[in-house]
Amino acid sequence: MPRSISLRLRLLTSLRQLFSIRLLLIITCISFMISVIWIQLVENDNLIIDNESLVNEALENVARDHRYAEVYRKVNRLQKDVKYILLWTPHNFAPFYYFGDGQRAFIDKNCSKINCYVTRDRNFFGGDTSKFDAIAFNGRNIDTLTKSQLPKTRSQRQKFIYFNMESADNYPVCDDIFDGFFNWTSTYRLDSDIPYPYIQIRNSDGEVVGPREKMNWAVSKTLNDEYLETKLQNKSKAVAWFVSHCSSRSGRREYAHQLRRALRAHALTLDIYGACGPLKCPRHQKNSCDSILESNYFFYLSFENSLSKDYVTEKLLTALQHDSVPIVLGGADYSRFLPPGSYLNARSASPTALANMIAKLMSSKEYNQFFLWKSSYSYYDPTETSNVCAVCAALHNKEIFEKPSVYRNLRRWWLPNYQDRCKT
Ligand SMILES: *[C@@H]1O[C@H](CO)[C@@H](O)[C@H](O)[C@H]1NC(C)=O
Ligand SMILES: *[C@@H]1O[C@H](CO)[C@@H](O)[C@H](O)[C@H]1NC(C)=O
Ligand SMILES: *[C@@H]1O[C@H](CO)[C@@H](O)[C@H](O)[C@H]1NC(C)=O
Ligand SMILES: *[C@@H]1O[C@H](CO)[C@@H](O)[C@H](O)[C@H]1NC(C)=O
Repeated sequence: MPRSISLRLRLLTSLRQLFSIRLLLIITCISFMISVIWIQLVENDNLIIDNESLVNEALENVARDHRYAEVYRKVNRLQKDVKYILLWTPHNFAPFYYFGDGQRAFIDKNCSKINCYVTRDRNFFGGDTSKFDAIAFNGRNIDTLTKSQLPKTRSQRQKFIYFNMESADNYPVCDDIFDGFFNWTSTYRLDSDIPYPYIQIRNSDGEVVGPREKMNWAVSKTLNDEYLETKLQNKSKAVAWFVSHCSSRSGRREYAHQLRRALRAHALTLDIYGACGPLKCPRHQKNSCDSILESNYFFYLSFENSLSKDYVTEKLLTALQHDSVPIVLGGADYSRFLPPGSYLNARSASPTALANMIAKLMSSKEYNQFFLWKSSYSYYDPTETSNVCAVCAALHNKEIFEKPSVYRNLRRWWLPNYQDRCKT
């Protein structure tokens, strides 16, 4: 008897176990089906696209994405009103790295013309580089290019553009394959087809008025800025210079050392910050150095590293944007860049004469007159935005884009004495 009881018991428990397993299975099945149905419903929701133009737009965007070139790109699907720009030389040199990839840079910078597309992919049009509207070359990278490394074919309507932000004296064009090669130039030279200056001057209405070859400066006669006047009164030190490359072709270091000696006779100093002087001004502290300049120094050395026509760099902005008077040394005609009476020029005064001038101005009300321009003008750095926009705008300017043009003698245009510089 006890045996049969235990048998029944065992039977019961195994039956119960069986039921609970089945129950579990059933629950699992049901929830699985529910989730499958739910996922399908949700996915269907997302998949409903009732707008043909959106689909086409998405397709087109993909077609223009270089990562999907082989799969999707169809030349006849590319937008017709877009100007395609091929960067022939490496993109990681200024100004090319401001251009970004695709259309993005022009959109991000709020350009008036955004329909330009930048690529580094020479196979963008299936390897036919004559289909690009423009091919861009950076002057600082072309000196190693040989004829076989240049585009094989070119069309009559596309522009080959010579870019360069470096000075002609440091980067002359030496190879004669580049004479009669470029259609346009885009450099700091103001007579470039698309000027690419380091400096932008706006008037009090915010309009861009310079730099230009012929400026029409209008400067007020009195300084009506009490805050600025008290700020200037606080200055106590003579001259500052932030510099990281010591030797240069302009002879600026020699001049600076002579000026420092001449200032010593007046018990004044030229304080050199950076790699070439005793004072440190590391890059990541640039703002604090600028504020030291702004509150302490009467003058700042805006000395260029080489003497080339129109070559005026952001070193001028360092002074102007921080209420210090620039002492310039460069190859430019500075009347294109600076209002009269707003700066001193080291190229037209000996170090001794300049030191005398500095000493006199530091103890005179006359110093404030150097800032009269501030009510009429303001200075900006256009290299990352305005200049990038100007490139796209030029390509969309029918009148100049469709006019054939070529630099027959680029080497001489860029640097009149190129033969001397190209000898070695
Ligand atoms: C489709 O989208 C475009 C742009 O987003 C819009 O102009 C157009 O009216 C839309 N068409 C329909 C049918 O919704
Ligand atoms: C572009 O315009 C937008 C909106 O007006 C603004 O937020 C943004 O800062 C602008 N960008 C530039 C680079 O000017
Ligand atoms: C001038 O210097 C004094 C003392 O260092 C300071 O309190 C004041 O804010 C400065 N004035 C201006 C306009 O910078
Ligand atoms: C660009 O220069 C080349 C070479 O001189 C010339 O054949 C071509 O017509 C020029 N194209 C344009 C669009 O100016």
